Amino acid sequence: MKFFADTADIAEIEKLVETGMIDGVTTNPSLIAKSGQNILDVTKKITEIVRGPVSAEVTALDFKTMVKEGRKLGAIAENIAIKVPLTVDGLKACQVFRADGFMVNVTLCFSASQALLAAKAGATFISPFVGRMDDLGVDGMELIEKIADIYSAYPDFNTEILVASARNVHHVEQAAVIGADVATLPPKVIWDLYNHKLTDLGLAAFMKDWEATGQSIL
Ligand code: E4P
Repeated sequence: MKFFADTADIAEIEKLVETGMIDGVTTNPSLIAKSGQNILDVTKKITEIVRGPVSAEVTALDFKTMVKEGRKLGAIAENIAIKVPLTVDGLKACQVFRADGFMVNVTLCFSASQALLAAKAGATFISPFVGRMDDLGVDGMELIEKIADIYSAYPDFNTEILVASARNVHHVEQAAVIGADVATLPPKVIWDLYNHKLTDLGLAAFMKDWEATGQSIL
């Protein structure tokens, strides 16, 4: 399972890349706004830090402008995945970008039928937003299961399921049990994956006993 960092914060990305656990990055207009940086500059920097796919989202809503924007974003680096919204124009642009040879991440997916359309449009990634569904009292993970079932019934579909809007470790574990290809995670959730109270307690006990021996390995 691949982990993408869901952030445009360069310092955070650098720290996460050092762990060796990060396979890509996703950004969106809100994350770019939060970074306070220019979209082209910050995206370029991210592509230089991370080897895997870096999603950069178009902001136009009409097909023609989306294609222009996407091609500009795609030209930033070879590892750019152009992010388009799940709209009629977004999926038309997706097909153009795929024909151009770009990776495409189709975002803002909230139903299995939308995921089906994205796969038909040749999307590299489909991003269902589990956390935002949970917020509405609907189980986001049920959608991931449904999409996984549909995609596995059609071996011609090559679209990877990218679990987005993940809010906690439980989401990651559930996504892994289903066999989702990717989870994009806010930095806090990635760091949380390492943590367990019993690991801390166990380590403290080992260190205490070790200190009492007066030994040193080196
Ligand atoms: C990913 O591509 C999305 O931009 C992101 O996961 C959205 O997460 P949010 O619902 O926490 O904003």
